[in-house]
Amino acid sequence: MSSTTNLDYKNASLKGTITIPGDKSISHRSVMFGSIAQGKTTVSGFLLGEDCLSTIDCFRRLGVEIHVEGTNVTILSPGMDNWEEPKEILYTGNSGTTTRLMLGILSGTTLHSVMTGDASIGKRPMRRVSDPLRLMGAKIAGRENGQYTPLAIQGTKLKAIDYTMPVASAQVKSAILLAGLRAEGTTVVREKEVSRDHTERMLQQFGASVEVENGVVSFKGGQQLQATHVNVPGDISSAAFFLVAGAIVPNSEVMMKNVGVNKTRAGIVEVLENMGADLSVEVEDDKGFEPTATLTIRTSDLKATTIEGNIIPRLIDEIPIIALLATQAEGTTIIRDAEELKVKETDRITAVVTELQKLGANIEATDDGMIIHGPTKLHGANLNSYGDHRIGMMSAIAALISTSPIEIDDTDCIAVSYPTFFDDVKQLLNS
Ligand code: S3P
Repeated sequence: MSSTTNLDYKNASLKGTITIPGDKSISHRSVMFGSIAQGKTTVSGFLLGEDCLSTIDCFRRLGVEIHVEGTNVTILSPGMDNWEEPKEILYTGNSGTTTRLMLGILSGTTLHSVMTGDASIGKRPMRRVSDPLRLMGAKIAGRENGQYTPLAIQGTKLKAIDYTMPVASAQVKSAILLAGLRAEGTTVVREKEVSRDHTERMLQQFGASVEVENGVVSFKGGQQLQATHVNVPGDISSAAFFLVAGAIVPNSEVMMKNVGVNKTRAGIVEVLENMGADLSVEVEDDKGFEPTATLTIRTSDLKATTIEGNIIPRLIDEIPIIALLATQAEGTTIIRDAEELKVKETDRITAVVTELQKLGANIEATDDGMIIHGPTKLHGANLNSYGDHRIGMMSAIAALISTSPIEIDDTDCIAVSYPTFFDDVKQLLNS
């Protein structure tokens, strides 16, 4: 445990414009795809969060040359077929996306590699990825038959599969598609509920041909990716903290430009609109590979809502901060069909409910979500981030409306996805 932060924001109001750091999912993929493709890939707007730096570190160990200058990244790759066998363990830190997508990528190489991460990664289920990869012929060994890290991968020839996803997970879908790159035949992934589609979009951006129709993704093996330039938009999952802050902190108006509003990610915009938030969405670019918009949020009168079904994958990472939002809305908000929260960086149902209760919120856990009765005034308390960046940021935003200070244990973890989070809070408080 590290870094305790004491937050005492009296009569806070948030005003101004902030630049949201790059999208975490797209940043990871830009390095992965740039390392798979032979030649020079350039990336702008890259997220310098610890998770994405873990991805860079893994590819450097595979012999890919990667230069980082501010938020610009240059990847000089010999191409996937010429990577070096890593002499060291590939360390994926706190990053589920790195671990799961790398598992797919490494399975189809000719290399032996070992991957491990931090204590949280050591508890996250990997069979959801290793099982379908094994159906493709992958050779993966790990604790409890490939369920937990450390994982050892002996790259081998793979064959395509036709796979129906048992859970809505872009990490699983992406791992299978990336393994499909070197598999013989056409890989098909069928989703009941559509998860984020950054992999499908980026495959096309790197020159591959991918078919997507009615939740079915088909991708022919053996295609070579072409090095290119990737422009990473701001991360809507990071913007979410300030969308909620702007709505619940009195006398506020917050503008964020260049935020990614890919439909498979932007569920929070729908929720804010359903709850009556004073939000404007001005689309900037809907022609590129990832659409962007300027988002402006003002202090709002909020009403409760029900969040369930196929919107869940489109806002799964935003549920902690949406729960805080619901504590300030009139009526009973119900969140269901979100059992996936239990296998994130921490069990986010337990973490959110426990921490918000400490602040005086009227919230209860259910098997697949939570029920929140609002509005309630929140008071100060000593909170735990559980080493989970999104729980840490939810707690910090709560401090902007609490009647007394909030102390949060272990705020270092926020650097996983939003290293400049507290600078942005400060900027909005001062302007
Ligand atoms: C991600 C997919 C989601 C999300 C995670 C990033 C990705 O995880 O929660 O933060 O980049 O593909 P699941 O695939 O487990 O739903």
